[in-house]
Amino acid sequence: MLSKAVKLRETSSFMLEWMKAPLVTASVFPSSERLARKMVKGLNADIGKVVELGPGTGVFTRQLLTCGIPEDNLVLIELNRKFANNMQEAYPKAMVVNGAAESLTRLHLKEVGAVVSGLPFLSMKDKQIDDILRGAFQVLKHGGVFIQFTYGHRCPVKTHILKHHGLIAERSSFVLNNFPPASVYHIKKHPH
Ligand SMILES: C[S@@+](CC[C@H](N)C(=O)[O-])C[C@H]1O[C@@H](n2cnc3c(N)ncnc32)[C@H](O)[C@@H]1O
Repeated sequence: MLSKAVKLRETSSFMLEWMKAPLVTASVFPSSERLARKMVKGLNADIGKVVELGPGTGVFTRQLLTCGIPEDNLVLIELNRKFANNMQEAYPKAMVVNGAAESLTRLHLKEVGAVVSGLPFLSMKDKQIDDILRGAFQVLKHGGVFIQFTYGHRCPVKTHILKHHGLIAERSSFVLNNFPPASVYHIKKHPH
Protein backbone atom coordinates (compact mmCIF):
# COMPACT_ATOMS: atom_id res chain seq x y z
CA MET A 1 0.00 0.00 0.00
CA LEU A 2 1.30 3.46 -0.89
CA SER A 3 1.24 6.27 1.64
CA LYS A 4 -1.23 9.06 0.95
CA ALA A 5 1.65 11.51 0.36
CA VAL A 6 3.29 9.29 -2.28
CA LYS A 7 -0.08 8.66 -3.95
CA LEU A 8 -0.77 12.39 -4.07
CA ARG A 9 2.68 13.11 -5.51
CA GLU A 10 2.23 10.46 -8.22
CA THR A 11 -1.26 11.69 -9.09
CA SER A 12 -0.17 15.31 -9.41
CA SER A 13 2.89 14.34 -11.47
CA PHE A 14 0.60 12.30 -13.75
CA MET A 15 -1.89 15.18 -14.13
CA LEU A 16 0.94 17.57 -14.98
CA GLU A 17 2.27 15.26 -17.70
CA TRP A 18 -1.27 14.79 -19.01
CA MET A 19 -1.64 18.57 -19.35
CA LYS A 20 1.61 18.72 -21.35
CA ALA A 21 0.77 15.78 -23.64
CA PRO A 22 -2.85 14.61 -23.25
CA LEU A 23 -2.83 12.14 -26.15
CA VAL A 24 0.41 10.45 -25.09
CA THR A 25 -0.35 10.29 -21.36
CA ALA A 26 -3.95 9.54 -22.32
CA SER A 27 -5.38 9.48 -18.81
CA VAL A 28 -5.73 12.21 -16.21
CA PHE A 29 -5.04 9.80 -13.34
CA PRO A 30 -2.80 6.76 -12.95
CA SER A 31 -4.58 3.39 -13.00
CA SER A 32 -6.07 2.08 -9.77
CA GLU A 33 -4.39 -0.64 -7.73
CA ARG A 34 -7.41 -2.86 -8.43
CA LEU A 35 -6.79 -2.57 -12.19
CA ALA A 36 -3.05 -3.13 -11.62
CA ARG A 37 -3.76 -6.37 -9.75
CA LYS A 38 -5.94 -7.62 -12.60
CA MET A 39 -3.24 -6.68 -15.14
CA VAL A 40 -0.67 -8.97 -13.48
CA LYS A 41 -3.04 -11.76 -12.43
CA GLY A 42 -1.51 -15.16 -13.18
CA LEU A 43 2.07 -13.89 -13.60
CA ASN A 44 4.83 -15.16 -11.31
CA ALA A 45 8.60 -15.45 -11.07
CA ASP A 46 8.68 -18.57 -13.29
CA ILE A 47 7.58 -16.55 -16.32
CA GLY A 48 11.04 -15.02 -16.84
CA LYS A 49 11.52 -11.56 -18.32
CA VAL A 50 8.55 -9.19 -18.37
CA VAL A 51 8.40 -6.10 -20.58
CA GLU A 52 6.20 -3.25 -19.43
CA LEU A 53 5.19 -0.66 -22.02
CA GLY A 54 4.22 2.82 -20.78
CA PRO A 55 4.71 2.31 -17.02
CA GLY A 56 3.97 5.97 -16.24
CA THR A 57 4.27 6.37 -12.46
CA GLY A 58 4.65 2.62 -11.98
CA VAL A 59 1.34 1.32 -10.66
CA PHE A 60 1.62 -1.89 -12.73
CA THR A 61 5.37 -2.17 -12.01
CA ARG A 62 4.70 -2.34 -8.27
CA GLN A 63 2.23 -5.18 -8.77
CA LEU A 64 4.68 -7.05 -11.02
CA LEU A 65 7.20 -6.94 -8.18
CA THR A 66 4.53 -7.94 -5.66
CA CYS A 67 3.70 -11.04 -7.67
CA GLY A 68 7.33 -12.11 -7.54
CA ILE A 69 8.93 -10.88 -10.78
CA PRO A 70 12.50 -9.95 -9.80
CA GLU A 71 13.42 -6.31 -10.48
CA ASP A 72 16.26 -7.34 -12.78
CA ASN A 73 13.82 -9.30 -14.94
CA LEU A 74 11.85 -6.14 -15.71
CA VAL A 75 12.25 -4.11 -18.90
CA LEU A 76 10.35 -0.81 -18.73
CA ILE A 77 9.84 1.22 -21.90
CA GLU A 78 8.47 4.71 -21.37
CA LEU A 79 8.28 7.58 -23.87
CA ASN A 80 7.97 10.35 -21.28
CA ARG A 81 11.44 11.31 -20.07
CA LYS A 82 10.35 12.41 -16.61
CA PHE A 83 8.46 9.16 -15.98
CA ALA A 84 11.39 7.10 -17.35
CA ASN A 85 13.90 8.91 -15.11
CA ASN A 86 11.71 8.41 -12.06
CA MET A 87 11.34 4.70 -12.85
CA GLN A 88 15.10 4.25 -13.25
CA GLU A 89 15.64 5.97 -9.92
CA ALA A 90 13.04 3.83 -8.17
CA TYR A 91 14.13 0.54 -9.81
CA PRO A 92 17.89 0.71 -10.46
CA LYS A 93 18.13 -3.03 -11.28
CA ALA A 94 15.45 -2.90 -13.96
CA MET A 95 16.27 -2.07 -17.57
CA VAL A 96 14.53 1.27 -18.15
CA VAL A 97 14.39 2.64 -21.68
CA ASN A 98 13.27 6.18 -22.40
CA GLY A 99 11.86 5.54 -25.84
CA ALA A 100 8.94 4.36 -27.93
CA ALA A 101 7.36 0.93 -27.52
CA GLU A 102 7.48 0.70 -31.33
CA SER A 103 11.27 0.21 -31.14
CA LEU A 104 11.09 -2.80 -28.80
CA THR A 105 12.95 -5.12 -31.20
CA ARG A 106 16.01 -2.84 -31.12
CA LEU A 107 16.66 -4.06 -27.57
CA HIS A 108 17.40 -7.60 -28.89
CA LEU A 109 15.38 -9.27 -26.17
CA LYS A 110 14.16 -12.84 -26.50
CA GLU A 111 12.15 -15.43 -24.59
CA VAL A 112 10.09 -12.76 -22.83
CA GLY A 113 7.28 -14.30 -20.76
CA ALA A 114 4.79 -11.44 -20.87
CA VAL A 115 4.34 -7.92 -22.19
CA VAL A 116 2.23 -5.75 -19.89
CA SER A 117 0.99 -2.70 -21.73
CA GLY A 118 -0.29 0.55 -20.28
CA LEU A 119 -0.17 2.12 -23.73
CA PRO A 120 -3.04 4.31 -24.91
CA PHE A 121 -4.08 2.10 -27.86
CA LEU A 122 -7.34 4.04 -28.24
CA SER A 123 -5.42 7.19 -29.19
CA MET A 124 -2.86 5.38 -31.36
CA LYS A 125 -2.88 4.85 -35.11
CA ASP A 126 -3.36 1.33 -36.53
CA LYS A 127 0.19 1.40 -37.93
CA GLN A 128 1.63 2.10 -34.47
CA ILE A 129 -0.38 -0.72 -32.88
CA ASP A 130 0.63 -3.02 -35.72
CA ASP A 131 4.34 -2.23 -35.17
CA ILE A 132 4.04 -2.67 -31.39
CA LEU A 133 2.37 -6.08 -31.70
CA ARG A 134 4.86 -7.25 -34.34
CA GLY A 135 7.74 -6.29 -32.02
CA ALA A 136 6.13 -7.77 -28.95
CA PHE A 137 5.41 -11.16 -30.55
CA GLN A 138 8.97 -11.27 -31.92
CA VAL A 139 10.39 -11.12 -28.39
CA LEU A 140 7.69 -13.15 -26.60
CA LYS A 141 8.40 -16.83 -26.08
CA HIS A 142 6.04 -19.56 -27.26
CA GLY A 143 2.80 -19.20 -25.28
CA GLY A 144 3.74 -15.68 -24.14
CA VAL A 145 0.98 -13.17 -23.48
CA PHE A 146 0.45 -9.50 -24.33
CA ILE A 147 -1.73 -7.89 -21.65
CA GLN A 148 -3.57 -4.69 -22.53
CA PHE A 149 -6.19 -2.62 -20.78
CA THR A 150 -8.77 -0.37 -22.37
CA TYR A 151 -11.52 2.04 -21.37
CA GLY A 152 -13.47 0.96 -24.45
CA HIS A 153 -16.20 -1.64 -24.84
CA ARG A 154 -14.19 -3.99 -27.02
CA CYS A 155 -10.61 -5.07 -27.56
CA PRO A 156 -8.61 -1.96 -28.56
CA VAL A 157 -6.82 -3.96 -31.29
CA LYS A 158 -8.96 -4.14 -34.41
CA THR A 159 -9.94 -7.59 -35.69
CA HIS A 160 -8.02 -7.21 -38.96
CA ILE A 161 -4.80 -6.41 -37.06
CA LEU A 162 -5.30 -9.43 -34.77
CA LYS A 163 -5.92 -11.63 -37.82
CA HIS A 164 -2.92 -10.24 -39.66
CA HIS A 165 -0.64 -11.34 -36.81
CA GLY A 166 -2.47 -14.63 -36.15
CA LEU A 167 -3.60 -13.47 -32.71
CA ILE A 168 -6.62 -14.01 -30.52
CA ALA A 169 -7.84 -11.65 -27.79
CA GLU A 170 -9.79 -12.61 -24.71
CA ARG A 171 -11.23 -10.27 -22.09
CA SER A 172 -9.89 -11.49 -18.75
CA SER A 173 -11.35 -8.89 -16.36
CA PHE A 174 -13.57 -5.84 -16.04
CA VAL A 175 -12.63 -3.33 -13.34
CA LEU A 176 -15.27 -0.90 -12.16
CA ASN A 177 -12.99 0.52 -9.51
CA ASN A 178 -10.86 2.57 -11.90
CA PHE A 179 -11.34 5.96 -13.47
CA PRO A 180 -12.67 5.34 -16.05
CA PRO A 181 -13.72 1.68 -15.60
CA ALA A 182 -11.50 -0.60 -17.67
CA SER A 183 -11.27 -4.05 -19.23
CA VAL A 184 -8.16 -6.20 -19.38
CA TYR A 185 -7.42 -8.25 -22.50
CA HIS A 186 -5.02 -11.15 -22.96
CA ILE A 187 -3.69 -11.32 -26.51
CA LYS A 188 -1.94 -14.50 -27.62
CA LYS A 189 -0.86 -16.36 -30.74
CA HIS A 190 -3.68 -18.44 -32.19
CA PRO A 191 -3.06 -22.10 -31.27
CA HIS A 192 -2.79 -23.71 -34.74
C1 LIG B 1 -2.57 5.71 -19.85
S1 LIG B 1 -0.90 6.02 -19.31
C2 LIG B 1 -0.66 4.54 -18.33
C3 LIG B 1 0.40 4.69 -17.28
C4 LIG B 1 0.43 3.56 -16.24
N1 LIG B 1 0.72 2.29 -16.86
C5 LIG B 1 -0.89 3.48 -15.52
O1 LIG B 1 -1.69 2.59 -15.88
O2 LIG B 1 -1.14 4.30 -14.61
C6 LIG B 1 0.03 5.72 -20.79
C7 LIG B 1 1.55 5.70 -20.61
O3 LIG B 1 2.16 5.28 -21.84
C8 LIG B 1 3.23 6.16 -22.17
N2 LIG B 1 3.35 6.10 -23.65
C9 LIG B 1 2.50 6.64 -24.57
N3 LIG B 1 2.91 6.33 -25.81
C10 LIG B 1 4.03 5.56 -25.67
C11 LIG B 1 4.90 4.90 -26.59
N4 LIG B 1 4.70 4.98 -27.91
N5 LIG B 1 5.94 4.18 -26.11
C12 LIG B 1 6.16 4.10 -24.75
N6 LIG B 1 5.38 4.71 -23.84
C13 LIG B 1 4.32 5.43 -24.28
C14 LIG B 1 2.78 7.51 -21.62
O4 LIG B 1 3.87 8.39 -21.43
C15 LIG B 1 2.13 7.08 -20.31
O5 LIG B 1 3.09 6.94 -19.28
